[in-house]
Amino acid sequence: MTTTTDFEVLRSDLRQTRIAEGSIRCEPGQVLCRIDKFALTANNITYAVFGEAMHYWNFFPTAPGDGWGRIPVWGFAEVVESRHETIAVGERLYGYWPMSSHAVLQPERVTDAQFLDGVPHRRPLPTPYQVYMRLARDPLHDPRHEDHRALLQPLFFTSWLIEDFLADNQLFGAKQVVLASASSKTALGVAFLLKQHGPRVVGLTSPRNQAFCEKVGYYDQVVTYDALGAMAADVPSVFVDMAGDGKLLKFVHYHFREQLKYSCIVGATHWEQRKTQHDLPGAKPQFFFAPTQAGKRQKDWGPAEFFGRFGKAWAAFLPSVEGWLQLKPGYGWAAIRLAYQDVLEGRSTPEIGIVLSP
Ligand SMILES: NC(=O)c1ccc[n+]([C@@H]2O[C@H](COP(=O)([O-])OP(=O)(O)OC[C@H]3O[C@@H](n4cnc5c(N)ncnc54)[C@H](OP(=O)(O)O)[C@@H]3O)[C@@H](O)[C@H]2O)c1
Repeated sequence: MTTTTDFEVLRSDLRQTRIAEGSIRCEPGQVLCRIDKFALTANNITYAVFGEAMHYWNFFPTAPGDGWGRIPVWGFAEVVESRHETIAVGERLYGYWPMSSHAVLQPERVTDAQFLDGVPHRRPLPTPYQVYMRLARDPLHDPRHEDHRALLQPLFFTSWLIEDFLADNQLFGAKQVVLASASSKTALGVAFLLKQHGPRVVGLTSPRNQAFCEKVGYYDQVVTYDALGAMAADVPSVFVDMAGDGKLLKFVHYHFREQLKYSCIVGATHWEQRKTQHDLPGAKPQFFFAPTQAGKRQKDWGPAEFFGRFGKAWAAFLPSVEGWLQLKPGYGWAAIRLAYQDVLEGRSTPEIGIVLSP
């Protein structure tokens, strides 16, 4: 038995948190991992907001019915005990973890570069979240950029798929792309990719993040939420929504009307302003499901070409973030709690990338 510490949030009120002590056992066929570091962004808050609806609470469950949840995060861990024939103590892994000191995995479909966690309660959940990269043989691993990877790679993978989806559909006949929550890392990834391929890119953001979005240099125009009328309404446009703000979505649809050629719902950074909208003018809002585009492109190109192309895009993006991103490490449970509260309340500033170690 190993003693564990877990950061947990009350599912019914994400502002309430606790640090829980427990114990876990590494059974035959399993490995015990010590979690070394993970990133925290609005994406993790969205996992909690949609914890019930999208089953994010089921990845790292607490005791049944206790009402608390463990928010999944992306990061690195080391195998500290192995009862698996292939995976050795000391191996370093990249993947999906709880905000905890330790986690037990059950490696299955093991290759030199990766394995899937086969613990029974995770089997019904989407496969991309079950993959653990074995860093010694992982082509994308660069020890100098571990923090960047934890922070940006899961987000940039979605950014890359969004941009590819739009290009694959010839931008639905639009001439510009409007991105909400323009200061979010996911939006910045989309804007960076679009900037290289031509369409005009408009970023919508809060007044306090306007200067940051302008400084980054990926947007042709930055418009604040209190001045949305500044967007030219007669330009055929695509809306990519990272904010999930009901009022904002309504404004954008009524502003562009039939000039809105596609409306793509990706996130909910403004998680307290969500409101379902019906019968909006322009294209009907569609949820973006990254695995659909990933599956299509793996069929079109084959997995090797697919991951090769992503690797090239990632390698081009990394140097660009040096211009705007400052990594901010935090150590210990008190720092984790504070960082969580800041990200939940939208108090963290967009140039800061939070990477935490339990
Ligand atoms: N569907 C998918 O597969 C997928 C994949 C990746 C990300 N996403 C989604 O994309 C969104 C962005 O994620 P991220 O990790 O890139 O975000 P991030 O970098 O942490 O974004 C921070 C920005 O979000 C806005 N924000 C954050 N918290 C807020 C709050 N409490 N109230 C108001 N605004 C707040 C602010 O931007 P502004 O001032 O510019 O609004 C802030 O600068 C998330 O909802 C995430 O779930 C979805």
